[in-house]
Amino acid sequence: MKTIFLGYEVSSQLVAASCPATESAEGALDCVANGAAAVILKTVSGYSQNRQAGYDMNDTRNNMPAIESKETPGERRCFINSRGFWARSSFRREIMPVNKGTELVREVKAAARVPVIASVAECGLDTESWLQDCNEVEIAGASAIQLDLFYMENLLALDGFAVQFISLLKEIICHCHVPVMPKLNISLPAEYAVYLFREAGVRYVSLLDSLRSPAPLRFDKKGIPYRDQAMLGPGLSVFGGFMFPLTRFYADTLRRTGFEVCAGGGIQTAADILDLLLLGAGTVQIASEVLLHGYRRFGELDGELNEILAKIGIEDAASLREMGKNISRPADPLYAGIGGINSMRKNPWRLCHDPQKCSRCGACTGQSFCRRVRRIGNTLSAEGCEGCEFCVSLCPGGALGVVTSG
Ligand SMILES: Cc1cc2nc3c(=O)[nH]c(=O)nc-3n(C[C@H](O)[C@H](O)[C@H](O)COP(=O)(O)O)c2cc1C
Repeated sequence: MKTIFLGYEVSSQLVAASCPATESAEGALDCVANGAAAVILKTVSGYSQNRQAGYDMNDTRNNMPAIESKETPGERRCFINSRGFWARSSFRREIMPVNKGTELVREVKAAARVPVIASVAECGLDTESWLQDCNEVEIAGASAIQLDLFYMENLLALDGFAVQFISLLKEIICHCHVPVMPKLNISLPAEYAVYLFREAGVRYVSLLDSLRSPAPLRFDKKGIPYRDQAMLGPGLSVFGGFMFPLTRFYADTLRRTGFEVCAGGGIQTAADILDLLLLGAGTVQIASEVLLHGYRRFGELDGELNEILAKIGIEDAASLREMGKNISRPADPLYAGIGGINSMRKNPWRLCHDPQKCSRCGACTGQSFCRRVRRIGNTLSAEGCEGCEFCVSLCPGGALGVVTSG
């Protein structure tokens, strides 16, 4: 379904996020060939060049002590468990030098007929460094620029952070001739980002980058817990489905306050994509799902999304937005409480139990959230059921439901 992304008409809502899948021209073009409507290239930085040019490493305004550790070379290490995709890397391994990045922009631009967004990062608030990076990728032909704020983690504690940050964003937006889109991670709370971005005149927002979390616990063959040496250190990030509620919160907050949002973080299914679009995101970006299961996921997700949209009779982005407005903001009386509470009192709930589907697994009676669910012989009942559906969610066989009995 066509839409507008960063002012460009694109063929669908699916964008390839900045990640290892977009760090080479082959990778970026594979994303496009498999259905990505735009690509955000792997982040580049002129940081090491600036350092050679005499960048003041002792300038604490620029968070320099933290940056020193980013100088160490390193390799990527990965670990996948039920919590997500853990990746350990160093700044030097992860972030491409600008000259390589500009080559990449040129190559992908020459071969792909989609917007090619360059992503740039700096480790501090130094305006000149950011402008230099932005200028270089813009000259190389980037359709837009993502500002990757991931390496600014300690800056929030700096005196005068807000003023410096707003001024930096204003300068970048003013000097760039292409759209500029800062990328959020949870180091900037959503509501604070709204304030900072509004003040700076930001229009487009990219979200959400990974969570920094200490190395996961592992167990050796004897069951002794340990932390993998290779995963220790500050450069460890975790990605996964757990991010999705955070992504929804950031997307909803930023969208409601007027920003154009490219939302991602934890997307695994077409239903996730639909959810973000109905919350008002204009486009979605995907990384892990493609890293784990291959480039074909773009096409598969797009196909599944289109099937759902066809079923619910949505033919264009405008109708989708309209539907989102209607279903995401319930009528006021419900929020006011009175209507909702009254309707529950008038219509008490009743638990329905289908013994044919019930495997007697005990999930519904074994929980401690609600003490009303009881087994009596072959049947289940819940006297005084409030209709919360907690037990329904636990039932693996779909044997439970609640209906109003009023
Ligand atoms: C190994 C790896 C490297 C990444 N590198 C970058 C990067 O250089 N720049 C960036 O903006 N985001 C980077 N990301 C973050 C993704 O763009 C995305 O925001 C994040 O993975 C959440 O989306 P997902 O749940 O679809 O993976 C990286 C992600 C992974 C997994």
